[in-house]
Amino acid sequence: MTSTLITDIGELTTNVERGADRFGTLTDAAVLVQDGRIAWVGPAAEAQGIAENRSGVRESARRTESQTPDQFSSDAGAIEVIDADHRAMIPGFVDSHTHLVFGGDRADEFEARMTGTPYAAGGIRRTVAATRAASDDELSARLTGFVAELHAQGTTTFEIKTGYGLTVHDESRLARLAAEVTPEVTFLGAHVVPAEYSDRRDAYVELVIGEMLDAVAPHARWVDVFCERGAFTPAESERILAAGTARGLLPRVHGNQLGPGEGVRIAVAAGAASVDHCTYLDDADVAALAGSDTVATLLPGVEFSTRQPYPDARRLLDAGVTLAIASDCNPGSSFTSSMPLMIALAVREMGMTPAEAVWAATAGGARALRREDVGVIAPGARADLVLLDAPTRVHLAYRPGVPLIGEVFKDGVRLR
Ligand code: NIG
Ligand code: FE
Repeated sequence: MTSTLITDIGELTTNVERGADRFGTLTDAAVLVQDGRIAWVGPAAEAQGIAENRSGVRESARRTESQTPDQFSSDAGAIEVIDADHRAMIPGFVDSHTHLVFGGDRADEFEARMTGTPYAAGGIRRTVAATRAASDDELSARLTGFVAELHAQGTTTFEIKTGYGLTVHDESRLARLAAEVTPEVTFLGAHVVPAEYSDRRDAYVELVIGEMLDAVAPHARWVDVFCERGAFTPAESERILAAGTARGLLPRVHGNQLGPGEGVRIAVAAGAASVDHCTYLDDADVAALAGSDTVATLLPGVEFSTRQPYPDARRLLDAGVTLAIASDCNPGSSFTSSMPLMIALAVREMGMTPAEAVWAATAGGARALRREDVGVIAPGARADLVLLDAPTRVHLAYRPGVPLIGEVFKDGVRLR
């Protein structure tokens, strides 16, 4: 058995509700990791005894000459001890919304936006052309680079959507490549109607819900649709979600990003795990979300990168809506994979407290992916952990742009 004891944690955010503290904050804490899972969480003062007990270390166990000072011997194996030096620890970030398999970039569009050209969904077609032209090896190499980028920034669980292929062949290869790096793959054949179908959109919808869905479903867990003016209508969106659900995929929706619309209503009616963007909501949308199990996933990187108004997180939280925040990393509307940046924006621009933003970036993302094994630091959960180079989680918003991600563990394995 491999055991790691991380001790002297100054502030530990567990996300396990304790009385009035829904963030489950402990001070002077320790975490014991065994075989990739959390085995115990508690006061640092009790940690050593618990660790020795749980690892089968006998009372007489003591360091031997061949061991480093931060290991203890036992018949059952060694315990590695990591001193957090009073820094803060949080669960690894859960980025529940990305579009990381694509070719090319659209830096020119971003530059034009910064001098006044508005964002439009049609830009997706440029990335579709670049993605179709890229080989599997090129897309995979890029994906590997993005995964390293995510890990370096503390993200240990991430979702990836297709949606830049839009042919049966390309959507299925994007899903297959994404599935090599994450179990959370989303079929987004309904991202935009591709140019070659622009005067035959019904035929494209038929393709998506027929042959394309059949080809992608074996690689995917989720089905998504961009329900928006310029993308898919409410009626088309409902058909696509129903077809995906019938094929065993779980629904999620891109909605209410560029203007008011039916996205939220459709997502709630479909029992979607999440409706993402939620920038333009009316009172009925907020009430529907509050009365549902559908998470509202806010993507502040989009508003930052498109100069659109930010969604009002405070209004949603006060109404009782469960929120996640995610990067939406994609070459058009938000080319950043930084969850710390999302936290800083959520606090500065959307009315969230630092603790609420950290919760939304961890436990909220896990809810948006219907995952109970990540986003919390509790016995049995995956040992996906981030030690911050800071004394508290508040620093993630308080020191924007500063690299505060220290050690990162995924399934108990240290990634950095
Ligand atoms: O989530 N809204 C739809 N899709 C992406 C944008 C994709 C693009 O512009 O390439 C989004 O913002
Ligand atoms: Fe998106």
